[in-house]
Amino acid sequence: MPKFYLTTPIYYPSGKFHIGTAYTTTLADAIKKYKQARGYDVYLLTGMDEHGQKIQQVAENAGKTPQEHVDQMAEEAKKLWKLMEIDYDDFIRTTEPRHEKVVEEIFDRLMEQGDIYLSEYEGWYCMPCETYFTETQLVDGKCPECGREVKKMKEESYFFNMKKYANRLIDFYNQNPNFILPESRKNELFNNFLKPGLEDLCVSRTSFDWGVKVRKDPKHVVYVWLDALTNYITALGYLSEDDSLMQKYWPADIHLVGKDIIRFHGIYWPIFLMALNLPLPKQIYAHGWIMMKDGKMSKSKGNVIYPEPLIERYGLDAFKYFILKEMSYSQDGTFTPEGFIERYNFDLCNDLGNLLNRTIGMVNKYFGGEIKSYPQNVSSLDKELENFSNGIIHSVEDYFDTYHISQAIAETWNLVSRTNKYIDETMPWVLFKEEKTEELQSVMYHLVENLRRIAILISPYMVHTSQKILDQLSIPQGSLRTWDSMGKYDELKDIKVTEKPEVLFARLEQETEIEVIKNMMK
Ligand code: MSP
Repeated sequence: MPKFYLTTPIYYPSGKFHIGTAYTTTLADAIKKYKQARGYDVYLLTGMDEHGQKIQQVAENAGKTPQEHVDQMAEEAKKLWKLMEIDYDDFIRTTEPRHEKVVEEIFDRLMEQGDIYLSEYEGWYCMPCETYFTETQLVDGKCPECGREVKKMKEESYFFNMKKYANRLIDFYNQNPNFILPESRKNELFNNFLKPGLEDLCVSRTSFDWGVKVRKDPKHVVYVWLDALTNYITALGYLSEDDSLMQKYWPADIHLVGKDIIRFHGIYWPIFLMALNLPLPKQIYAHGWIMMKDGKMSKSKGNVIYPEPLIERYGLDAFKYFILKEMSYSQDGTFTPEGFIERYNFDLCNDLGNLLNRTIGMVNKYFGGEIKSYPQNVSSLDKELENFSNGIIHSVEDYFDTYHISQAIAETWNLVSRTNKYIDETMPWVLFKEEKTEELQSVMYHLVENLRRIAILISPYMVHTSQKILDQLSIPQGSLRTWDSMGKYDELKDIKVTEKPEVLFARLEQETEIEVIKNMMK
């Protein structure tokens, strides 16, 4: 079985996760389910990035020890992933001994081989980003990443010799043009960071102690990004007694990250791996951000929206549908209450829900709920729909394979619309009136068959809806529910659809629900 290893970033436990932080994990889970459906042995890693000055401060402000704070946050994170039915294989925490031990060892090793050396650092430090900047990197005297205040600081530090590897990384980029996705972000990295020449990176701190201590010089703690990035291999047992997962799954097939952390993943991480003599990940995909009407989500603006209340009111499938659809491949997405309700009412309730209800209603009315087998004679309209549907399957697969999930969803809804249009074109009620039984049978077959395909196409992100559709159509468990079975079009036999179709998505009263969602924002 081919293997597929994918990762989410490990999240800072600095506050409750909002829909933006939940996005990558939702995406990762949908990709995992898709890959599994395509026959891959998939390993999905997520976790938490628990060290660093900021976490130490957040804990202090809450009157807790950092460990107490991160323990509680890890529980909350796991609760959320459970609610969202995220099927992760491991949840790594950087405070776990299995991780810390290996980070110590990696640091030692890099020191021994001369990649890490002791020097002094002076620069502008952004505390929330835990990053130093040079004077020229600042934007209007503020942090170029987050726009907040920076402080001039000087400290004895260990440095990683990035310059030594810069050319190798440039070559790697040139030989692997799809290493960083989307291309626009690759060009940004390449032109703004790699080409002008890399600075050596400061990889230890002495100004706080909530971190992995440098074994040979314990007044230093390891820089949080060197600590964090290595999670992708420590979780697989790198340098530990049992490294079978490492043997099996490394290199990662894809690291999924947000656009703000692509520099760390696209430049420092590959160089750390080169220094450790390990293969580089195959691809890194940086998605955009979920924005609000008035910009970024922030507590001070009171525009933060969390997954839990949305899921509770509208269901998990609608939530996943919305955020995955809304974020295009290379741009930011926007969350608005209006947009959410519209997508729910139009795409889910009208387009998909009604298609199912109409179909089941007609099969019951015209044929007592039965679909016998593939029709003997098909019309040109039937054939057209079949061809259209075949094309959609291929493009959905292509989009999934290249991480264009929003487009994969849009393509699937093109099939939903096309199938709805097919009802208008074939006018089954006229066929019934005119007693064109054979033609009518064919139309019913084509409707049920395309709904079966639609149910399978949405299964990576709308698990429940997918099953409800297949159940209501009474598609037998097993081979007609697999991804591969979409390759067949003529195998439905002796199907008896449900007599009582259940509404998939009940229509929402727009004004009321917009207010409801506005009240969820904090
Ligand atoms: N701890 C680091 C990652 C280390 S990975 C080795 C970190 N953590 S974070 O909690 O600040 O952010 C985690 C992820 O959430 C990032 O990929 C970031 O882009 C993503 N998002 C945070 N807000 C977001 C949105 N509003 N929209 C989409 N993703 C967003 O960075």
